[in-house]
Amino acid sequence: MMLQFWFFGISIIIHIIFSAYATIVSHDGRAITIDGHRRVLLSGSIHYPRSTPEMWPDLIKKGKEGGLDAIETYVFWNAHEPTRRQYDFSGKLDLIRFLKTIQDEGLYGVLRIGPYACAEWNYGGFPVWLHNMPGMVFRTTNKSFMDEMQNFTTMIVDMVKKEKLFASQGGPIILAQIENEYGNVMGPYGDSGKAYIKWCANMAQSLDVGVPWIMCQQNDAPQPMLNTCNGFYCDNFVPNNPNTPKMWTENWTGWFKQWGGKNPHRTTEDVAFSVARFFQRGGTFNNYYMYHGGTNFDRTAGGPYITTSYDYDAPLDEYGKFKKFLILLTWKNLLGNLNQPKYGHLKQLHDVLHSMERTLTYGNISTIDFGNSASATIYKTEEGSSCFFGNGNENSDAKISFQGESYVIPAWSVTILPDCKNEAYNTAKITTQTSMMVKKPNEAEDTPSTLKWSWRPENVDNFILKGKGESTQTQLFDQKVVTNDQSDYLWYMTTVKFKKRDLFLGKSMSLRVNSTAHVLHAFVNGKHIGNQHAEDGKFNYVFEKDVKFKSGRNVIALLSITVGLANYGIFFESKPAGITGPIFITGRNGDETIVKDLSAHKWSYKTGLNGFENQLFRTESMSKWSVESVPFNRTMTWYKATFKAPLGNDPVVVDLMGLGKGTAWVNGNNIGRYWPAFISSENGCDAKCNYRGAYHAEKCLTNCGEPTQRWIFALYHVPRSFLNAEGDNTLVLFEEMGGNPSLVSFQTTRVGSVCANVYENKIIELSCDRKPISAIKFASFGNPHGNCGSFEKGTCESSNNTVDILTQECVGKEKCSIDVSTKKFGAPDCSGAARKLAVEVIC
Ligand code: GAL
Repeated sequence: MMLQFWFFGISIIIHIIFSAYATIVSHDGRAITIDGHRRVLLSGSIHYPRSTPEMWPDLIKKGKEGGLDAIETYVFWNAHEPTRRQYDFSGKLDLIRFLKTIQDEGLYGVLRIGPYACAEWNYGGFPVWLHNMPGMVFRTTNKSFMDEMQNFTTMIVDMVKKEKLFASQGGPIILAQIENEYGNVMGPYGDSGKAYIKWCANMAQSLDVGVPWIMCQQNDAPQPMLNTCNGFYCDNFVPNNPNTPKMWTENWTGWFKQWGGKNPHRTTEDVAFSVARFFQRGGTFNNYYMYHGGTNFDRTAGGPYITTSYDYDAPLDEYGKFKKFLILLTWKNLLGNLNQPKYGHLKQLHDVLHSMERTLTYGNISTIDFGNSASATIYKTEEGSSCFFGNGNENSDAKISFQGESYVIPAWSVTILPDCKNEAYNTAKITTQTSMMVKKPNEAEDTPSTLKWSWRPENVDNFILKGKGESTQTQLFDQKVVTNDQSDYLWYMTTVKFKKRDLFLGKSMSLRVNSTAHVLHAFVNGKHIGNQHAEDGKFNYVFEKDVKFKSGRNVIALLSITVGLANYGIFFESKPAGITGPIFITGRNGDETIVKDLSAHKWSYKTGLNGFENQLFRTESMSKWSVESVPFNRTMTWYKATFKAPLGNDPVVVDLMGLGKGTAWVNGNNIGRYWPAFISSENGCDAKCNYRGAYHAEKCLTNCGEPTQRWIFALYHVPRSFLNAEGDNTLVLFEEMGGNPSLVSFQTTRVGSVCANVYENKIIELSCDRKPISAIKFASFGNPHGNCGSFEKGTCESSNNTVDILTQECVGKEKCSIDVSTKKFGAPDCSGAARKLAVEVIC
């Protein structure tokens, strides 16, 4: 017993000594220095509110195992201060807990306070009450804006300081960011923009965080701010000061999705190429944006039209994954869903770069230009040299001769030779498996194949029949002004009276609304006359429908729905949302058109919907639901079903196929907006997807002609998360447009098959993510071609039975390691070309 106390006491003392030990973070023109040592730093973005606290340890641990030194996050002002001076740091918003989780994992942190974030986050992270303050203009020398920005920034810095989380205090945070990509939009702000950025720098500096501040995409960043680069490639970036290291704050690992759009995919080869090239050309800090994209729960998606999924094709996929282990009474989760081969190929790159840290940060740099976009960069110290051979040509491989040896550098790739002799890594040669995810039906016991639904109508009568709201104005207002963004929904209602002999009546009449509503529903005298949304990114459209008005009083009720407020652009805070008009009734009589302008009518406003106010989504809601005649294709309808959590530990998603548009809740938690009825266009997908050549967000798209997002992440059935492992769970849907819930189902996602396509003399590891490999579907050693799922034999092939060899080595095991060599598979004659093993295994 005494001994235990003794150990306990010693460990507390050690802890105190270590946490009091400040880390000195500084920089010179070459690199960020930590305690005087120049560092090669690999970092990855994980935004805390896009996952749950239960997921953080696993995600961060996966980052560390993937070879990251640091985790980066923005701070989301509107989430923390939803109402002025009322703060929320609970649950997913527990910033301090997130930073401490980074610290517990022994990683560094990069804190991008902004507080403008962009990030495809609602309103770029600005609270809408801020917009509604008198005389407000964002991101310029506007007194009210600067006061509020300073207030929030100071508060965050103080919170972080209080917990001793800056490296200068012994904590993990080595860098802080103020503003975000202001340089991209600054021009139209004129001199005020220039003054603002100086003010930002001074304000940040005055907060005395003891670590360097960065400003990304700000090539006039005032000293001592470090200006950094964001983009798909940053090898050409030159900081604005010779004393600033070359740093890349956002290397976009993929791209985000918008409703109506397709699935973006940035190839692994190209991400690796961009990183290797950046380090070849003197870069020393690279942050992946995103490393884990996650989910835009609730109403956090930016816009307009950013989807609920923020997967981003990042190295860790949206879902992540848990494995439960009861260790010393704490729940430990050990797995994350690796987006392979991206995760593994980048991990190998990080390991190689770290192994060269000293030469890269202290070595003398020389380059050789071989022409045709091929070059060698040599980093040389007294202890040795490290080399990069780059080939930026997108069509042809480069054959170069270096120090008496010849090398082939595939098109659009970089080869790294830590000793300038032996190739340790090539960005285009992937030796990591490709994992193909599949969705499986809910296998929970007693779960019928279809859910049993009950329903309720949304009570809209007061609005569509009576036109009765909360306040009236003789003006059409921007939605933000009225709702303060407390809801997606705003009713605009007015009444129009026609006398029996009114010129209008009897004519062919229509209602014409000039709308910037992200989605608009129109009702006349209680009847739904139609809805409309923006097509092809045009958020300024005209809704026009023929309507029969009656003599006497007519009620026009327009329901405007926001789908994420704009998060990017010049003066984006004033981009209109809602129905700003004008609104007309037109009557046509032959060639004659009579127009009645309703814009300055008495408009009655009502924010939100009854069902939301009455919290129909709460499991304990006492409201009545009917199981009789569950309607299909009915607008403004609530649906509810109970379900059992799927068995096992795989992440759970809900398939919302058949529904229109709305919001989904699991056990009272808002899991986000859904819109499976929004189908992307048929054109523009690229099944082949060539990694060679510069990537852009329209390249390598998939999912043409399909719903942009069909599945929503329903989270795990682990303690404290959304699902109950035992007993019933509740799914509630609010369907706006009309849909058929009978197809809705719960599914789990897991690795379904795994492939590799590797040149000889490499070792490849195949793993089914802790499930046994069940069969070898395809295997060929020679010159096979095709992609995972569609491999084909080539013209030369080993006479050994490759499938049998692999069955012996892999089937029944959770993972197997294969030496891809002629010794194992035989030596087919492939006319001198390097042989390859292509294999697909079923999990
Ligand atoms: C950048 C911005 C990020 C994110 C990214 C695109 O311009 O800084 O916050 O929006 O674009 O995903």
